[in-house]
Amino acid sequence: IPVEPFDLVIFGGTGDLARRKILPGLYRRLADGQMPPEARVIGAARSEMDDEGFRKLTRESLEEFMPASALDKERVEEFLSLLSYVQVDAKGDGGWAELKEHIRPDVVHAFYFSVAPSLFGPIAERLKDHAIADDNARIVVEKPFGHDLASAKALNQSLACHFDETQIYRIDHYLGKETVQNLMAVRFGNMLFEPLWNSQYVDHIQITVAETVGVGGRGEYYDRSGAMRDMVQNHLLQLLCLIAMEPPARYDPDAVRDEKLKVIRALDPVRPDDLVRGQYREGSDGPSYLADVGDPRSRTECFIAMRMSVSNWRWAGTPFYIRTGKRLKARASEIAIVFKDAPHSIFDVPQGRHSNVLTIRLQPNEGMQMTVTIKEPGPGGMRLIDVPLDMSFAEALGEQAADIPDAYERLIMDVIRGNQTLFMRGDEVEAAWAWTDPVIADWEARGHVPSPYEQGSSGPDDALMLLHRDGRRWREIRP
Ligand code: BG6
Repeated sequence: IPVEPFDLVIFGGTGDLARRKILPGLYRRLADGQMPPEARVIGAARSEMDDEGFRKLTRESLEEFMPASALDKERVEEFLSLLSYVQVDAKGDGGWAELKEHIRPDVVHAFYFSVAPSLFGPIAERLKDHAIADDNARIVVEKPFGHDLASAKALNQSLACHFDETQIYRIDHYLGKETVQNLMAVRFGNMLFEPLWNSQYVDHIQITVAETVGVGGRGEYYDRSGAMRDMVQNHLLQLLCLIAMEPPARYDPDAVRDEKLKVIRALDPVRPDDLVRGQYREGSDGPSYLADVGDPRSRTECFIAMRMSVSNWRWAGTPFYIRTGKRLKARASEIAIVFKDAPHSIFDVPQGRHSNVLTIRLQPNEGMQMTVTIKEPGPGGMRLIDVPLDMSFAEALGEQAADIPDAYERLIMDVIRGNQTLFMRGDEVEAAWAWTDPVIADWEARGHVPSPYEQGSSGPDDALMLLHRDGRRWREIRP
């Protein structure tokens, strides 16, 4: 779908997210020939800087955060020529009149709030007061979208005073990942899976988002959040919703988001026994979590595992085990749908093998795999083995797979196209906090202390027990 000419203003245009993700993503779109020549990108921030300064910073960011092979000299120049910069005071009057002059009529207007949430309200207000953003303008906001239900509600209200919900794009970058959308394509584009996609046939589901990075460098933010707020409330819940939701009537923003919302509302509270929290110890890869955040008494978790349940007709009785953590064995995100055993085995094999597993690999090495039982080749009689039916995107799609856009570039282009399907609606975010808050309040009231775990491991041993006691086991965290 072609992208119309646009003016994209990036508040916080000199900040970390802009430098790492937004500007490189926009460059890649241009290099792929997907950026209309009339597009303009306007950096807006507190720092004193001119257009040249912003172009220099952008050039340096591309060089720092993109492989040299992805940079073409001419294309980079072309990209830099689309950029300009305005110094604005988010909480004052400075710069807004000048910003207004940069905005052209008759193109799409998008305003990316790559700033602290405390500035969302003030910026929204100024965009309206100075008549910079009209009723067709789009605003993009980043997580953390609130710290709890009350703050998320306050943020929603501060935006709703100035913008309609159809203008607000709340980013959860996991929804921009290729395989996450493929999950919907596979579920709803095939006849094969959906009839089995329920508690009658699915034994359990595992969602793992394992990281090798620690929290060094962003300890101050992280220690106030923890894995529950930083990863579960948003990314993991979104994944869970896409697996658990009913088929929407259409692939359109509200149809999809209505179904996700129903899943969040059907989540049971998590029982204390069904929850494991951890902190990494000191290891060869670096200091301990406590040293990274500079607080030896911190009780914030950088690992969390949970047994969750979705109380509705489709999923009653099927546990969803989720886990995410820092400094684990490998960077690996995957979803595994583990099917039940055949009701009766005509072969002489034990039950409980769970041979049919659909694995959806988000990163690295995007792809899907389904294991099935076959006969072991050879004359040795009816011996059974489980083999993968593979669908590695790289192999199946050849060159096309190399062009898989990064989550941010896809999402930014969706903003310009006016497609909200992959963005969170205000009520969804609030429902997610409404489920998260009591879980956190409960462990705080109990004075729960996270268990230490080895760096490079799969997390605390208690997390293994979560499944062992149900007669199940986690899938290995593989790079
Ligand atoms: C961010 C979290 O939203 O997602 C980080 O704040 C985390 O703590 C990151 O590292 C993971 O994203 P990705 O795309 O690298 O899996």
